[in-house]
Amino acid sequence: MIEFENVSKVYQTPAGEPFPAVKNLSLKIEEGEFATILGPSGCGKSTSLRMIAGFEEPTRGKVLVNGQEVEKPNSNRAVVFQENSALFEWKTIKENVMFGPKACGASNSEAEEIAEKNLELVGLKDFLQQYPAQLSGGMQQRVLIARALANDPDILLMDEPFGALDALTKTLLQEKLLKIWEETGQTVYFITHDVEEAVFLSQSIHVMTAQPGQIKESWQNELPYPRDLDVRKKDEFKKLKDDILKTIHNETVTAAKQKEAEIA
Ligand SMILES: Nc1ncnc2c1ncn2[C@@H]1O[C@H](COP(=O)(O)OP(=O)(O)OP(=O)(O)O)[C@@H](O)[C@H]1O
Ligand SMILES: [Mg+2]
Repeated sequence: MIEFENVSKVYQTPAGEPFPAVKNLSLKIEEGEFATILGPSGCGKSTSLRMIAGFEEPTRGKVLVNGQEVEKPNSNRAVVFQENSALFEWKTIKENVMFGPKACGASNSEAEEIAEKNLELVGLKDFLQQYPAQLSGGMQQRVLIARALANDPDILLMDEPFGALDALTKTLLQEKLLKIWEETGQTVYFITHDVEEAVFLSQSIHVMTAQPGQIKESWQNELPYPRDLDVRKKDEFKKLKDDILKTIHNETVTAAKQKEAEIA
């Protein structure tokens, strides 16, 4: 479904020097899979997501979706960034969610129906006429998810969508997202810094090396769905979380040593 074939991405520094953000990244995500990406800050996670979305082109290698090389953004691939990203402040939340379907050719009443359905799915059906500024951070984040779902995408690309939320709201949204995923069967590419979140949500977990990023280690998470809070108490959950934390820790230490050596 999603495939990185030996992908490298080189940016330019302000001084015009080449800056490798991602190097020889290879990764395969199956159709319907819930995959999570972890890794040190600046290792190229968001870059990898932007290449799947079609916002950014690889410098070398290929990013394939359904066997086709990604060329440009497409409504089949919906993106949810962190909080505060791009809700239209002057539109009600219903109008915000109607925007995508209308842009794709839906009539006003069709778009209304889609918006209402998806806002209900994220628990916001009583807030249709409110404006973004009148909602809490967690509610705004749910609008972003509803807006992404409104285009009925095959792939959901989520870049730390719950990163800025309090623990309780985060837990509620994680459970909501899992329910939606179980119902829709979408493929999810989910970036987070939170190892517990990764183990709770996903079927496969991929840790990237420090910049320039590639996959350092991957795990399959066999814990059955539906998952609820109690799954966190299971030994299997704790062991997986521990293994991943160790790998990330080692990677972060190695990267820091490399930086020190470069400076010295
Ligand atoms: N447009 C750009 N031009 C130049 N350099 C960039 C650009 N975008 C990202 N970078 C650099 O590429 C590297 C990877 O960035 P990216 O945003 O993918 O990291 P990340 O893994 O998502 O980090 P974080 O966990 O902090 O969000 C960083 O060092 C960043 O400074
Ligand atoms: Mg990022």
